[in-house]
Amino acid sequence: MHNTLVIGTQWGDEGKGKVVDLLSERTDIICRYQGGPNAGHTVVLGTKKFVFHLLPSGILHSDKMCIIGNGVVIDPQIMEKEIKMLAEGGIPVEENLKISGLAHLIMPYHKLLDQQKEMKKGSGKIGTTMKGVGPSYTDKIGRMGIRVWDLIDEHVFMEKLKANLDEKNFILEKYYGLEPLSAEKIFDEYIVYRDNMKKYVANTTKILKDSREKSLSIIFEGAQGTMLDIDHGTYPFVTSSNTTIGGVLTGLGVPATYIDNVLGVAKAYTTRVGSGYFPTELIDETGNMLRDVGAEFGSTTGRARRCGWLDLVVLKYAVWINGVNSLAITKLDVLDAFPEIKICIAYDIDGERTSEFPLDPSITGKIKPIYKTFKGWQQQTSEAREFGDLPQACREYLKFVEDVTNCRISLISTGVERNQIITSGLKEID
Ligand code: GDP
Ligand code: IMO
Ligand code: MG
Repeated sequence: MHNTLVIGTQWGDEGKGKVVDLLSERTDIICRYQGGPNAGHTVVLGTKKFVFHLLPSGILHSDKMCIIGNGVVIDPQIMEKEIKMLAEGGIPVEENLKISGLAHLIMPYHKLLDQQKEMKKGSGKIGTTMKGVGPSYTDKIGRMGIRVWDLIDEHVFMEKLKANLDEKNFILEKYYGLEPLSAEKIFDEYIVYRDNMKKYVANTTKILKDSREKSLSIIFEGAQGTMLDIDHGTYPFVTSSNTTIGGVLTGLGVPATYIDNVLGVAKAYTTRVGSGYFPTELIDETGNMLRDVGAEFGSTTGRARRCGWLDLVVLKYAVWINGVNSLAITKLDVLDAFPEIKICIAYDIDGERTSEFPLDPSITGKIKPIYKTFKGWQQQTSEAREFGDLPQACREYLKFVEDVTNCRISLISTGVERNQIITSGLKEID
């Protein structure tokens, strides 16, 4: 298989975890390249449900190498928990996991600052996952972050920790009125993580460089989704990393020529967690039904997700900005019972029709979605294994998405299980 980027085309939670797990079978290496424990990628195997926040979703295939790249921010406590959870489930993580020594750490003060900043914002809050992701990236860009390799050398770690706490304690005490944090306590806690983590730490840039000579194939597993990108998303209601295609290159140290395929993952409808505008949001019975049938509650925070119809303006934007060359449509089964299904095909902005996503934030509040209405198929799709097994109305719905986005659908997911998938379009990206 060629190297494939699996990337979210909406506001996250598109079902990337399931898609990555499925494709891992045909791949050698699976890499996370951005984000951190704000991600929650679900893989269901029979009665077992795994939610990965930091480990790549290919980790259940113990013969595959999984890489956490330099662009990811790591909370070592969460990583340790995930590794333990797998060991308890009889899936030991050993040589198959490699963590970049250049990846930045999430420290206790990052989590505290994430919470305090949100509380201070009140009703204007972003609705972050409170995992300390934003503050950790802030320190990275501010060139004061602590990286995995810094933790390996305890003298360097203590020195950097103290320098950081000098500033952070000032903010915690003077600005937020909290107790200062103790360097010694944090040190003792993190040294234990260090001892457990050490064996996984590597020069992952070199591993990926060498993989080309060995003709190994790679999956790049995106976290979040296009509309949460720090530059190209719905700023400031975004995450703190580049969730779009550029994140792969900077987050792993691979050239652009490494990406052969870009598989955009989209739900058959749309969801969003946290604040920020969402043109097709349904604050009504239909929205509630999407949430209930789709079990739309956050994998990381448990929060109820906001739900609405599929937005092709958003999808086309994501296809363009990431160079998506095929789509994976997930959660199609969630639409099975709806008598009528809508797709947003354009926006009305002050009486003008556009199918371009408006980037000017002063315009976004004026968006009125224009819908095309489809008759629902009102039949079960979860048993379908071929495109032809799907009801006619359902096939028409999918054909319409292909035509408008000018993108083939190579995967269709119709349930949480590994086998509830139609893969007939996959051969085109092999
Ligand atoms: P990710 O963050 O993109 O990996 O997505 P999440 O794991 O946060 O959310 C997707 C949710 O939908 C998970 O609970 C999955 O088990 C579930 N899911 C994935 N694909 C399907 C599908 O085709 N049908 C249904 N009903 N659920 C799905
Ligand atoms: P996966 O990888 C959905 C959202 C948060 C919030 C905003 C900023 O599972 O698709 P952050 O904690 O990153 O500073 O929060 O981004 N968010 C996600 N929403 N799926 C995710 O990840 C998300 N990661 C962050 O809800 O609105
Ligand atoms: Mg998720």
